[in-house]
Amino acid sequence: MPQTTVPYIQLFQAEKGQTRRDKLCGTLRQLIASGTLKKGERLPSSRLLASDLSLSRVTVEAAYAQLESEGYLYRKTGKGTFVAVALTERRPEKKAPEPASVKLSSRGKTIVATGGCHDPLFPHAFAAGSPDLRAFPHAVWRRLTNQRLRHAPEEWMRYGPPQGVTLLQEAVARYLGQSRGVRCEPEQVMVLTSSQQALQMLALLLCDPGDEVWLEEPGYSGARNAFISAGARIGTMPLDEEGATIPDIPAPARLVYLTPSHQYPTGVTMSLQRRLQWLAFARRQGCWLLEDDYDSEFYYDDQPMPALQGLDDAGRVLYMGTFSKVLFPSLRLAYLVVPPSLVDPLCKLRSVMDGHSAQLMQAVTADFINHGHFQAHLRLMRKLYASRRDLLLEQLANKLGDRLQPLSHSSGLQLTVALPQGDERRLTQEAQQQGVILPRLSPLYSGQPRQQGWILGFSALQRAEIIQAVEKLARLRY
Ligand SMILES: Cc1ncc(COP(=O)(O)O)c(C=O)c1O
Repeated sequence: MPQTTVPYIQLFQAEKGQTRRDKLCGTLRQLIASGTLKKGERLPSSRLLASDLSLSRVTVEAAYAQLESEGYLYRKTGKGTFVAVALTERRPEKKAPEPASVKLSSRGKTIVATGGCHDPLFPHAFAAGSPDLRAFPHAVWRRLTNQRLRHAPEEWMRYGPPQGVTLLQEAVARYLGQSRGVRCEPEQVMVLTSSQQALQMLALLLCDPGDEVWLEEPGYSGARNAFISAGARIGTMPLDEEGATIPDIPAPARLVYLTPSHQYPTGVTMSLQRRLQWLAFARRQGCWLLEDDYDSEFYYDDQPMPALQGLDDAGRVLYMGTFSKVLFPSLRLAYLVVPPSLVDPLCKLRSVMDGHSAQLMQAVTADFINHGHFQAHLRLMRKLYASRRDLLLEQLANKLGDRLQPLSHSSGLQLTVALPQGDERRLTQEAQQQGVILPRLSPLYSGQPRQQGWILGFSALQRAEIIQAVEKLARLRY
């Protein structure tokens, strides 16, 4: 049935002495004159309009015929009735009126002041952190989705549990146990929309305004923004070659955010010794360690170290991961593994936020994992991304020499490079004019940046795109 787009609402207060046909003609003339109905636009069939407006079809037919004779409309047999003229170029006023002033809450102002989190643009050199969506097994995904829709589709259309579909909780718990050494029961897995949601929820649930939260320096701005939004005070931990350092005179931290497998953005892997020190610290201080294991599936040289969570005997580690990088970002699925006593509070919080994640996609993701496609996809992507990383390293060495110095590069979807000389901001702008995006390192420091550089995403780029973009980098004025 065609969509009717005519606003009929005021039609039926026909004025005294006016027939319903006249009233309809007048309204349609006005809509055409104001540009609300545009030249070439199809009007609803006389049957549909008559039914919508509780008119007789004869009345609508008569109005259409009248307007056709006046040149406003034309009719094509078998096709319908169309607007024949454009009487104005003016676009109809659609914007809602602006209030005199908008007063944000103090929390709102704090959130806006963070500048928000920016989604990577891809595939575009060198937008960071994106999987190659061109290499995704679309046919398999389509087949699994169709299977779920063919069989009991209504099951996935209802409201669902805030902690996620059991099938996916089980699949994630099994995968994390086997691949990352995470110790958990499926009931401890909260299926969420994103890592960002996990950060936001933990910030709300665990941190009072003014509580100390410690972040790595430099570190992930998504985490910083989430904790600042909740009113936390941010402390920072500098890095050394073993990962985030433990402050000598620690303030009472409520939560410490860590990326031990692959520090974001420097790529350092936290040593076993440092992991044990952090666990002892958390036990002593009674604080939470939040482990963000965002891309450890993509290792190219050695097997990654198992998760910190698997070493924890005191229930102080909260573990999170995301499907944004191993599958695709618009899926909006991630997970958080928590001690059993936090499950219910998180479920309550989720129920006052957005309820739960889309159930159909949770079921399809569980099938993708359970039928072996997930591991196969990871194996293929590891090979593909390793070859791209090698090419990027080789191109940088050949064309830029020591103007850019790659930091750790054994895993991940991006290669962070230090810029020992030159102005990061100016060069970033110059590169942008050449069509190359360079995500900057300096803004990832909360305080004074100790190093300039860029986070070069390579995983979504094909060979020629990498070569071309490095050539453009080589032409910048360092
Ligand atoms: C360290 C880190 N954690 C988490 C994420 C994002 O995950 P999500 O899309 O699930 O919020 C990113 C994205 O770039 C990241 O760099």
